[in-house]
Amino acid sequence: MTVPFREATIDLDAIADNVRHFRRLTGVEVIAIVKANAYGHGAASAAVAALSAGATRIGVAEIPEALELRRQGVHAPIMAWLHAPGERFEHAAAQDIEVGISSFDQLEAAGAAAAVDRPVGVHLKLETGLSRNGIAPADWGRVLAEAARLERIGRLRIVGLFSHLSNTSVDDDRAALAKFEEGVATAASFGVHPEIRHIAATAAAIDLPEMRLDAVRIGVGLYGLSPFDDRSSAELGLRPAMTLRGAIAAVRRVPAGTGVSYGYDHRTDRDTTLVLVPLGYADGVPRNASGKLPVSIGGRRFLNVGRIAMDQFIVDVGDTPVSIGDEVVLFGDPTLGVPSAADWAEAADTINYEIVTRIGPRVPRRTS
Ligand SMILES: Cc1ncc(COP(=O)(O)O)c(C=O)c1O
Repeated sequence: MTVPFREATIDLDAIADNVRHFRRLTGVEVIAIVKANAYGHGAASAAVAALSAGATRIGVAEIPEALELRRQGVHAPIMAWLHAPGERFEHAAAQDIEVGISSFDQLEAAGAAAAVDRPVGVHLKLETGLSRNGIAPADWGRVLAEAARLERIGRLRIVGLFSHLSNTSVDDDRAALAKFEEGVATAASFGVHPEIRHIAATAAAIDLPEMRLDAVRIGVGLYGLSPFDDRSSAELGLRPAMTLRGAIAAVRRVPAGTGVSYGYDHRTDRDTTLVLVPLGYADGVPRNASGKLPVSIGGRRFLNVGRIAMDQFIVDVGDTPVSIGDEVVLFGDPTLGVPSAADWAEAADTINYEIVTRIGPRVPRRTS
């Protein structure tokens, strides 16, 4: 079998299994978060896999992402919560996209975008401590009163009340939940009774049962990755969905003292074999992991040597026999003996979210 030059394989069964895991664990609705091209996994196919396994809703950051999912035939409820300044929500309303509302102006725009007998679905986002978007507590009264009025006259349907946690500590998250509950009570006093309340993303959905409310928004866990530094995917019962691989593009036997890649940051300390892997920082291989990046070749683990370049990097395989065209697994499911996205994150001093999300457009995705 010919090994692909570069490829990210996406295991849609793993995504489906991960959704089933969160359904069983939480017992509440799962909102599958597929923003940023499903953290690099392919938004439409990830959404379809998640819905087929029991997710009931889809979440994305922006309306253009939601519209693209509709174009690709995803009919489930989709919400989007991060909007361009001055956004008028007309396209969202026409495609029945539910919008996250973080301000009075956004609320008015959503109400104005409604067609006769077709209220716009909204999720009111309450600021509870993250200091990103969300309606500030000082504005809750004004926004909630207007939301109730717009719902009464048939321009809005208040689908959700929601917020997002900082994951700083259990105490900080509990304080955010208490603030959120204050917001829910304030909403009720204005006659706003949402269909669902949601505050937990993957980490709180796993660790803090009281945060599960009516629905959990699962992003990184959908892709089988752990949101925690100290617990692996397998320990959480999750299966990583992405495997990144490539084919060895060149093999070179070199003497001791050979300089490797730009700047000769590395020189070989013995006669050895260098192999060229055809993915670089343009493909999402983090340059600051140069000299530390693990890969698997022929079932053995090696580190890259020298600087990672735009299109390629080098691995020293010693005296291991290798050939052009042999498979290199860059990362995948570590229970299969290959490096994990978390191993890459550690080498690059970042988080696994960034590793999978930054895999570049030059890497074809193949679903399996
Ligand atoms: C509002 C919101 N909800 C849910 C998520 C999903 O988070 P996670 O990937 O940690 O599950 C995100 C991601 O950043 C988010 O911004």
